[in-house]
This record gives sequence, structure tokens and C-alpha cells, in this order.
Amino acid sequence: MDQFLTADDLAKSLRADVREGLTGTPKTLPPKWFYDERGSGLFEEITRLEEYYPTRREREILLARAPEIAAATGARTLLELGAGSGEKTRVLLDALGATLEAYVPVDVSGDFLADAAGQIAADHPGLAVRAVVADYEQHLHLLPSGERRLVAFLGGTIGNMAPAARVGFLGGLRATMGPGDALLLGADLVKAPERLVRAYDDGSGVTAEFNRNVLHVINRELDADFDVASFEHLAVWNAAEEWIEMRLRSTRAQTVRVGGLELEIDFAEGEETRTEISAKFRRERLEAELGAAGLDLAELWTDEAGDFSLTLATPRP
Ligand code: SAH
Ligand code: AVI
Repeated sequence: MDQFLTADDLAKSLRADVREGLTGTPKTLPPKWFYDERGSGLFEEITRLEEYYPTRREREILLARAPEIAAATGARTLLELGAGSGEKTRVLLDALGATLEAYVPVDVSGDFLADAAGQIAADHPGLAVRAVVADYEQHLHLLPSGERRLVAFLGGTIGNMAPAARVGFLGGLRATMGPGDALLLGADLVKAPERLVRAYDDGSGVTAEFNRNVLHVINRELDADFDVASFEHLAVWNAAEEWIEMRLRSTRAQTVRVGGLELEIDFAEGEETRTEISAKFRRERLEAELGAAGLDLAELWTDEAGDFSLTLATPRP
């Protein structure tokens, strides 16, 4: 396993993010910190919830289109950003089998990544599996180069970046791509707000636990004393921005001490901290954002219901 992010780097960047996010107005925390071992497990549980359609819909598209993706790309290396468990990726790995030499899953969540990559390697003898612990917002230029790379960024995770961050990310990715490379991008689509809110506020409370997990992470890593139960999960559709916001609302006035930062943070009763945005797209926006980064949309597929999209894009010569 390649480690571009050491435990020390992670600790430093968590400290900087928490200091900046919790001393700003309004308070925010970046979604990257949900995914310790427990958070990654909770996300896997979310993907199996009836309300959370994106994973099932994306799998449906992959099952239908993987042979076309294999034929169009002839990929030798599959590089997957924010790979998580790599469960859906197995569909791609099977279809790409004839040309594929290497699978490179990239994730910030090191322990979870090591387990997932180990399982994929065991099931695909002959495939070189090289897991990389890295931040895809910082380390794209360090990832393995080579010919005919297919970069997969699935699940709609692109929507967890704010628009300005997406510009930087897509431009940075384009800069690493050669003529035979391609990008396979999963993006969730705009739909009725009630369905979106349900997907992010499920009846069994798994998403609420996932959201609150960031407070457990801060308690453990930064010696903080968040009373996690006094923060309520909220999922709100922001119609102007076309994104879902997850927030944590303090149910009472309280002061939280973050020992590792020598900080005391006041929360008013009802004060909300934004922990994630999950942007939903229309074809025009995807095409425009890719185009602005120098990537041409070659195909955009959806599932039968038109809920989710999978785009194949190639670098403009
Ligand atoms: N691709 C999988 C998992 C999506 S969950 C799927 O489609 O189901 C998002 C994943 O991205 C998590 O595994 C998380 O650890 C990872 N992640 C979040 N922010 C990241 C970052 N900045 N750099 C690298 N990985 C990140
Ligand atoms: C990883 N990402 C695409 C998920 C999403 O849908 O935005 C994370 C998530 N947040 C709440 N539920 C799932």
C-alpha cells in the first residue's frame, strides 16, 4: 500500500479543518472526516437502505454499460478515487478483465481501504492491486502514471465538493491525463426534493449516526468533549444551489472543549453546523464543468428511472 498521507499529515489537516470550520460563521466541517473505520461501515449500511437509491442506480448503469466502457477505453489501469469498499467496482473489473493489468484504489480511509483492496486482490489473481492512501484534492499528481488509465470517481462523491473545489479538482485531474486516458464519473441527478431528503434522512437513523460520527472522530482524535447525543441530524434541500445539506443542530446552548486545539467553542441552542453538501446535477452542468476543465463528454448514461448518471469523458486534445 502506498501512503501519501501519513497519520501525522491526517492529524495536521484535521486540526486545521476543525479550527477553521468551528471558529467560522456559520460553522462547517468537511465531509472527509466522516470516514474512520466506523464511518466507512455506516456509509456501507447507508448504501443498503431502501431510501438511499444512488448506489443501486449506479450499479444498474454499470451492469448495463460495463462492456461498452471496456470496449471504449481498453483500460490497462483502473484508478478509483474515493474507492471505499470498491463493491460496485467489481462489475467494472470483470468487464475490463481482458485488458486490465492493475487496479489502484485511492482513499483517505486507510484501514478500510486496505481490507477492501485485500479482498479484491484475493478475488482477482493476476491483477496488480496497489492501494493508495491519499487525498484526491491534494495528491492527484502523485498517483501512478501509465498508458490507458481509466479514472473512476463513482457514487456521486464529486457532489460532496463545492463548485469552486470541483473546478480545481477537475482541472487538476485533466492535467494528469494523457491522450488514451478516460474519466468515468458517477453523479446524482436533480429530482423531487422529498425523495432527496428521504435519502439523506432515513427512517432507521443510519444517516443520522453517520453524520454525528464526525463528532466522535473529533472527540477521539482531538481530545474534544462533544456530547454527541445533544446534536440533531438535519437534511435540507437547498433549491438555489441544487444540493442537499447535512447539518448538525445543537439542541441546547453549550460550550465544547477541543483539548487538542486548546479551544472552547460555544454553540447556541438551535445553532447548525454544516457537515456536508451533496450536489445534484443536470446534464448541462456536468457537460459545462467537464468542458471547462478540458474534458469532453463522450457518453452520459442514466438508469431506467433517470435517477443517477454515469459519464464517460476524455481529455480534449
Ligand atoms: N466510491 C464508493 C464510496 C463512496 S463514499 C461508492 O461509490 O460507494 C466516499 C469515499 O471517499 C469514502 O470512502 C471516503 O473515505 C473517500 N473520501 C472522502 N474524501 C476524500 C478525499 N478528500 N480524498 C480521498 N478519499 C476521500
Ligand atoms: C459519498 N457521498 C456521495 C454520499 C452522498 O450521497 O453524498 C455521502 C452520504 N452522505 C449522506 N449519505 C451518504
